[in-house]
Amino acid sequence: MIDPYKIREDFPMYQKHGGKFGDKPLIYLDNAATTFKPYSVIKALEHYYEDITANAHRGDYALAHEVDVAYEGARTKVAEFINARPDEVAFTSGDSMALNQIAFGLGESLKPGDEILLSEAEHASNILPWFMVAKRTGAIIKYLPFKQNRVDLNDVKQAITDRTRIVSLAMVSNVLGYLLPIKEIAEIAHQHQALMVVDGAQSVPHIKTDVKDLDIDFLAFSGHKMLGPTGIGVMYGKRKLLDNMPPLLYGGEMNARFKADGYVSLEEPPLKFEAGTQNIAGALGLAAACDYLRQFSFEEIHAHELKLKRLAVEGLLANGNAEIYNSDNDTGIITFNIKNVFSQDAATYLADKGVFVRTGQHCSKLTPDIIHTDSTIRASFYIYNTVEDVKALVEACKHAEDFLDVFFN
Ligand code: ALA
Repeated sequence: MIDPYKIREDFPMYQKHGGKFGDKPLIYLDNAATTFKPYSVIKALEHYYEDITANAHRGDYALAHEVDVAYEGARTKVAEFINARPDEVAFTSGDSMALNQIAFGLGESLKPGDEILLSEAEHASNILPWFMVAKRTGAIIKYLPFKQNRVDLNDVKQAITDRTRIVSLAMVSNVLGYLLPIKEIAEIAHQHQALMVVDGAQSVPHIKTDVKDLDIDFLAFSGHKMLGPTGIGVMYGKRKLLDNMPPLLYGGEMNARFKADGYVSLEEPPLKFEAGTQNIAGALGLAAACDYLRQFSFEEIHAHELKLKRLAVEGLLANGNAEIYNSDNDTGIITFNIKNVFSQDAATYLADKGVFVRTGQHCSKLTPDIIHTDSTIRASFYIYNTVEDVKALVEACKHAEDFLDVFFN
């Protein structure tokens, strides 16, 4: 079972400042935006910067060799985390970069009239690159319909046609927090020879992700939402597809050779997708985050988050002044408003009590079409959140109508 109090001992954000931020308690409930980092992740960064600084894949000296081993070791660990092969895992700067690489890479082979199937619940990173690809190629973007915030497999069957080339969906949306039946959707996509791309930003940190079992073609995710450093992410792709996909970025190390006449031969994947000096420290940090998370089962992580979410739903409903948009979802994300209070005003009040949440449209600017609400408050839980955190959220929300007191005190 997850013991958040014990877990907090591993996190300097809780240990160094006496569980406070300034003079306020630290009730951090914005884990869908980013997570705190354990000492072991910070130590991995320090190890690179203090003990083994050299470039990767470039030097012919012992120190550089040590970096190569550490960097490729990190890749292997991250690949194991999602049950992939190391040569199917390219490091990127984050989920957005991975999705851009996938979209622009696959976009090269799209023809006018080809269809890309998305959903309106997607984050900007899984919509805007496809918009650009559609503009360049004449491909058409279509959206899966939502019913009571969920996607029905019959609607997926209707929406995927023989012109559908790509289906790109978040396994868990960053605002609604519902879990999509990705395995089943991938199967339908494959029956139509379409590729299945998955944005795993909000699922990989919380739910067991096995790319082989899901039989997905591509997966993108970020390190910083799963206890790792910022600036590092992953693009997984089936090896055959990576072989055929052109890189988005060109530069050092991703090429085997080039000639003055414009001839270029590229490295094999995954190096072909890692132009320039890689975020070596970030990769080591992400591997340390995977190691840290491995001490728990995803069943326990998920159960802990769902327990906190359920308590939050019960508490907010008991308060009587909240409108919740996703109370029956499958993850630790709760999205709501306080009646008659603008979300950012409410969040300002909550922040005054030390409760940190995110508000607005959460980079998902079509989701308001699904929930018919322009701006929301989002609280998102992770392994170090406690029942007391939930109580603090609920208590602060009870009085959020008093937000003007914060401005005038
Ligand atoms: N994508 C991040 C979020 O949902 C930043 O908050």
